[in-house]
Amino acid sequence: ARRSFSTSMASSAVIKNVTIIGGGLMGSGIAQVAAQTGHKVTLVDLDESVLSKAKNSITANLGRVAKKKFKDAPAEGEKFVAGALANLSTNTDACEAARSADLVLEAIVEDLKVKHKLFSSLDPVAPAHAIFASNTSSLSIEDISQAAPSRKENFGGLHFFNPVPVMKLLEVIRTPFTSDETYQAMMAWGMTLGKVAITCRDTPGFVVNRLLVPYLAEAARLVERGDATARDVDIAMKLGTGYPMGPFELLDYVGLDTNKFVLDGWSKKYPDEPLFKPVPLVNEKVAQGKLGIKSGEGFYNYKKQ
Ligand code: NAI
Repeated sequence: ARRSFSTSMASSAVIKNVTIIGGGLMGSGIAQVAAQTGHKVTLVDLDESVLSKAKNSITANLGRVAKKKFKDAPAEGEKFVAGALANLSTNTDACEAARSADLVLEAIVEDLKVKHKLFSSLDPVAPAHAIFASNTSSLSIEDISQAAPSRKENFGGLHFFNPVPVMKLLEVIRTPFTSDETYQAMMAWGMTLGKVAITCRDTPGFVVNRLLVPYLAEAARLVERGDATARDVDIAMKLGTGYPMGPFELLDYVGLDTNKFVLDGWSKKYPDEPLFKPVPLVNEKVAQGKLGIKSGEGFYNYKKQ
């Protein structure tokens, strides 16, 4: 399908050169989608081996996309893959990569101090017009933006979902300082990526995680009380609401440690919010190394019997 680009957005700054920092799960997915939609992308990671792994997985994913998209025209498919790969370069030096960026999007570890260190080094070297954005799931965008004092108006949140090439949603976050122009440019960029963008204020978890994280915690509290089994809760939510996965399948997929990490951060910052209270059952499993699919066991067992 042909990507549409609304002419009403044409007045806002157009994002062409994109620097993605962090070549892990999220950063590599965002880099792929940006490269395959015609942006010049530089993917940055501290670790050269992460970058070569990211390049391999992007190449394999593009091949899969091409096979589906150009089923009857393999030559077109090859052109699509080659074009996307030609748009992608890698660098281990974030400052060098940010020098020609219209947008610097960060998808590094979920740690405010580390994000501060990164943005404070980039603020003086990136072009004045460049927008800085974070893909954080749980931190405050305004807190992160403190490290880039010269571009409070050019700072926002661009929150993608895993797996990035598949999930259609993009949450666009405005802080009280984000300018209209920056906001419009972020929305327009999301559309050129083929995503559906929604807007949210800079609040814990934005829309999706603000609802999802407490929902998963509440499911675990229900099982903790002995009211029902995890399996029955999953069946109930799939068949009773039409959710594609039950809460425990989702917890195992996302990682119990990730859910605990987010709740711990929020309950520290908002001690009076009962929805953010830690869940002993989840904490216990994390302490036992039962993190979900990635460790072979969470609420379900994934080890080959
Ligand atoms: P990841 O651990 O897969 O990747 C992070 C990468 O950043 C690593 O390769 C690491 O080497 C690199 N890195 C760390 N510090 C760096 C620095 N200073 N400069 C350059 N590279 C650096 O993490 P993941 O899952 O991709 O998450 C990244 C961010 O995206 C986090 O803020 C997370 O909250 C957010 N997020 C994660 C989602 C998920 O489902 N995993 C969903 C949406 C957002």
